[in-house]
Amino acid sequence: MIPAESQRFELFMAQLSRMAAGETHERIPISPERDALDAIAFGINMLAAELSFTNVSRDSMTNIINAISDMLIVVGGDGTILNVNSSAAKILGRADRDLVGRALGTIVTDLGFSFARLREELLQRRSASDVECHFLSAAGDAIPMMVNAAFASSGTEPESIVLVARDMRQTHRLLRRAAEAEIERRRAAELAIARDAAEDASRAKSAFLAGVTHEIRTPMTVILGSAQILKRLGGDAKLREEFLKRIETSGQTLLLLIEDLLDISRIEAGKVKLETSDVSALELMRAVVADLRAHAATKSIALELVCEDGFPTTVASDPLRLKQILTNVVGNAIKFTPSGTVTARLFVAPDNPRELCIEVADTGIGIPTSKQSELFTPFYQVDNTIARRYGGTGLGLALSRKLARLLGGELRLAASRENEGSSFCLTLPLGGGALERPPALT
Ligand SMILES: Nc1ncnc2c1ncn2[C@@H]1O[C@H](COP(=O)(O)OP(=O)(O)OP(=O)(O)O)[C@@H](O)[C@H]1O
Ligand SMILES: [Mg+2]
Repeated sequence: MIPAESQRFELFMAQLSRMAAGETHERIPISPERDALDAIAFGINMLAAELSFTNVSRDSMTNIINAISDMLIVVGGDGTILNVNSSAAKILGRADRDLVGRALGTIVTDLGFSFARLREELLQRRSASDVECHFLSAAGDAIPMMVNAAFASSGTEPESIVLVARDMRQTHRLLRRAAEAEIERRRAAELAIARDAAEDASRAKSAFLAGVTHEIRTPMTVILGSAQILKRLGGDAKLREEFLKRIETSGQTLLLLIEDLLDISRIEAGKVKLETSDVSALELMRAVVADLRAHAATKSIALELVCEDGFPTTVASDPLRLKQILTNVVGNAIKFTPSGTVTARLFVAPDNPRELCIEVADTGIGIPTSKQSELFTPFYQVDNTIARRYGGTGLGLALSRKLARLLGGELRLAASRENEGSSFCLTLPLGGGALERPPALT
């Protein structure tokens, strides 16, 4: 029995209103007649089936959207918020109803932010990426966000814009922690360097003090011992003379040592004042050679002086200090050369016309390569046997290098070969200022 036509229409209407309410599982019965109304019923049933499928995918889409940890905000063309996902509500601490219907601009705190500009950019480029801004939470906090935006509709006139905003607080925290860790690491490294330097300085000071004590004790022992012997000595004038001489020599050694020590400590304390004037380095070297010639002659050592073309007649420097360095270096060359020649050569550096070089070369005992790096350390002497044989305290080169640097120059070992000789090179700046120090051999 087929229901009456009016009843069938009622069935259609009821089905359509159920479908409008989202109920899509019911179906309109189809009569065996397969008449025109059955065709309509068939169509409505198909629509219901189609809608039920669409509902399922819409629900799962909603679930997916809400599962996204970034905020999703759909905004209308006028900047009104149309929809938000649950992360937006959670991050901002605002209920959906507090967000939907609001103008986006009212929850973005950045003064420079303008929805109109964002929309303009979207119209031009279709998307906007990595826009940094701050969203206002219900508690009044400005939450840093990174926003990407695109049109939700594909037409040319935008109907809605979707914003994906990432909460940057965790990223900022991680970055801050990494930066703090880096600062901490650097601070620890600087501390370690400072501590090592302090330890080095303290070790150097101890070694220096040990050297001073040793060097003072030796001549003092000679002086005191000789004085005691003298007291007990009878009238042997020759012997008395011998011990007096020992006292005098040790006294002089002590005086020289004390003068060198005072010089070094004054330089280190920055208390040495330079008396700079126009100095003829050649004349100074001539005077040094003249002073030491007699001593060289006792060892049959020839002293030669060469001044190359272009070497300036004068240089701005401190004559006393310069002479002190030259005397030390030429004195060493004579002291450590059993026989042969000591040559002083004055020239302008071939690669730098503003750098003057005073080279002192000898044909002496030379310095073993393994010992060359220590030469400028206070009290260092290549070996004690030599020290005893040649005298001295091992302060000359240390002091001379400090003086050279004070004059804006450098003193370094230029070359040395055992049993063949050595050459030391003093460089000085032609004008004022200081030379860039070349990497020293020692
Ligand atoms: N021209 C040289 N030839 C060989 N060895 C040298 C030469 N100049 C210096 N030395 C070595 O370097 C060491 C340190 O020299 P430095 O001038 O500092 O001390 P010194 O001459 O022993 O004592 P001081 O100069 O204090 O009287 C010397 O003891 C010596 O071993
Ligand atoms: Mg010396």
